[in-house]
Amino acid sequence: MRLSAANLTWRAAGRAIVEDVSLEVRSGEFLALVGPNGSGKSTLIAMLAGLKRPHGGAVALDDRPLAALPRREAARLLALVEQQAETGERLTARQAVELGRTPHLGALVPWSGRDEAIVREALEAVDMALLTDRMWHSLSGGERQRLHIARALAQEPKVLILDEPTNHLDVEHQLGLLALVRRRGGTVLAALHDLNHAAMFADRIAVMQAGRLVALGTPADVLTPDLVAAVFKVRASIETGPDHRPFIRYAPPAPAPAETPAW
Ligand SMILES: Nc1ncnc2c1ncn2[C@@H]1O[C@H](COP(=O)(O)OP(=O)(O)OP(=O)(O)O)[C@@H](O)[C@H]1O
Ligand SMILES: [Mg+2]
Repeated sequence: MRLSAANLTWRAAGRAIVEDVSLEVRSGEFLALVGPNGSGKSTLIAMLAGLKRPHGGAVALDDRPLAALPRREAARLLALVEQQAETGERLTARQAVELGRTPHLGALVPWSGRDEAIVREALEAVDMALLTDRMWHSLSGGERQRLHIARALAQEPKVLILDEPTNHLDVEHQLGLLALVRRRGGTVLAALHDLNHAAMFADRIAVMQAGRLVALGTPADVLTPDLVAAVFKVRASIETGPDHRPFIRYAPPAPAPAETPAW
């Protein structure tokens, strides 16, 4: 399933936070969204997931406008893992993941063994199968993040949108999560801060800067020293790995001009 944005704009406090962004996440594609803090990634994602209504432009799933889809149907097609997600404190880990099945259940479709199996698989996929009875408030930041991801997996969406999904995760679980999402297939949009993760896992990379989309293409096309310097203000050299994907080696910031230290 294809997720497309046409001329999306969102304004706040008299300025454009996202301005005239058009992009398409192709069916089955893993598109990474990168950009500095405050460049508009989460705002764009909120519009793409139907959480924020655009002030201009429109979002579509295949050829159907997202705004015209009933909520339940949209939730069966699209799942979002938010950057700062919260869940009721009185849930167990398993109950937090079971919530993912809600859009698939109804008066005529009660909870079944299939739902049970999907929840179990989602918990196993994020390596949380041993903590299923723990209360939410007793879990660490990374464990909670993994449960949010399991909840989205249990939703069985065609389009999975992740806003900084590797936040709080240790290196093993960062790489494990990105590999899992890739392996699972389906259409994926993930905001990532680690450009090397984007280079390793994404089919294409979209770059935001000050609310605008400034580059979109394969990792090798997009991740150039010039772009990294212009958008992220960091000096870097780019190597190409045996898989032909770029690897970014950052240079330490240039020393500041001699001045009296502030301390
Ligand atoms: N409701 C709002 N009112 C005013 N400003 C807002 C509002 N929502 C977002 N912004 C501003 O819009 C800009 C973009 O925010 P957004 O959260 O989309 O950035 P981001 O690229 O996701 O950043 P990060 O990498 O830090 O997550 C920020 O400067 C933010 O302060
Ligand atoms: Mg953000």
